[in-house]
Amino acid sequence: MPTRTAAVPPLATPFQPLGHPPWRRGASLALPAERTARPSWGAAAAPGVVATGPTALAYAVGAVSTSAHHPFRLRSPADDLGPPGPLDLVLAGSAFGGGAHPTTASCLAALAGLAPLDGRQVLDLGSGSGILALAALRLGAPRATCVDVNPEAVAAARHNGGLNGLAGRLEHLQGGVEAVAGRRFDLVVANVGGELLLDLAGEIAALARPGGRLLLSGLLDGWGPELEAAYGRLGCATAARWSPPGFCTRLFRRG
Ligand SMILES: C[S@@+](CC[C@H](N)C(=O)[O-])C[C@H]1O[C@@H](n2cnc3c(N)ncnc32)[C@H](O)[C@@H]1O
Repeated sequence: MPTRTAAVPPLATPFQPLGHPPWRRGASLALPAERTARPSWGAAAAPGVVATGPTALAYAVGAVSTSAHHPFRLRSPADDLGPPGPLDLVLAGSAFGGGAHPTTASCLAALAGLAPLDGRQVLDLGSGSGILALAALRLGAPRATCVDVNPEAVAAARHNGGLNGLAGRLEHLQGGVEAVAGRRFDLVVANVGGELLLDLAGEIAALARPGGRLLLSGLLDGWGPELEAAYGRLGCATAARWSPPGFCTRLFRRG
């Protein structure tokens, strides 16, 4: 079970909660108490809360998988569960982003902690299957932009948008950060792995509007301080930390 410490200074946030997270609107999946503390977004957030320790891996249950640490239900199009529910993510294809990888699971947990995302424009950089963009839409974001260098991933994310009935709220671009250069988003999610997050820190940070958030994952465990230093130099304050097994996940607020 994750533990939390108040090691990061409280955040001054201009964001106001715009409603209740969907699972409190009667969704079928209960949210365990340890996930109710929210990392930063909205006045109801617990300021400065830091989540550490392993983020649960999703686990398969027949055609359906779920996770003990995020509220989403990961589904296959072949299951027999009817139309997608408010927190269902229907995923097909072989693109990265089935939900079981610890970095993906940690991002799903972090996104849930930021909900509601009503009114937020979201970028999913390195979108793979599109799972994180889909999750953001499920949490209230009106639109999300998926960017991936791999054309097969772009096709998969487009297909998954349709499976979830969310195609009309997704934009799909093939390429890297240059595909969205000059644009600004309320929330940038990038689970891209390797050292891309460090090498392109300036370009990635610039994609968040002032006051916006950056949820970054994929760097190997131990690189968290480097990541925080790099984004700190760019005016991005660390808002929350997660330590999925072997990796590090960080939430930044751009000043
Ligand atoms: C680890 S997967 C993450 C997929 C999904 N977002 C998730 O969280 O499960 C990383 C994805 O980033 C893509 N990628 C790698 N380098 C990239 C770059 N420079 N720009 C955009 N996408 C990139 C890969 O093709 C891959 O689909």
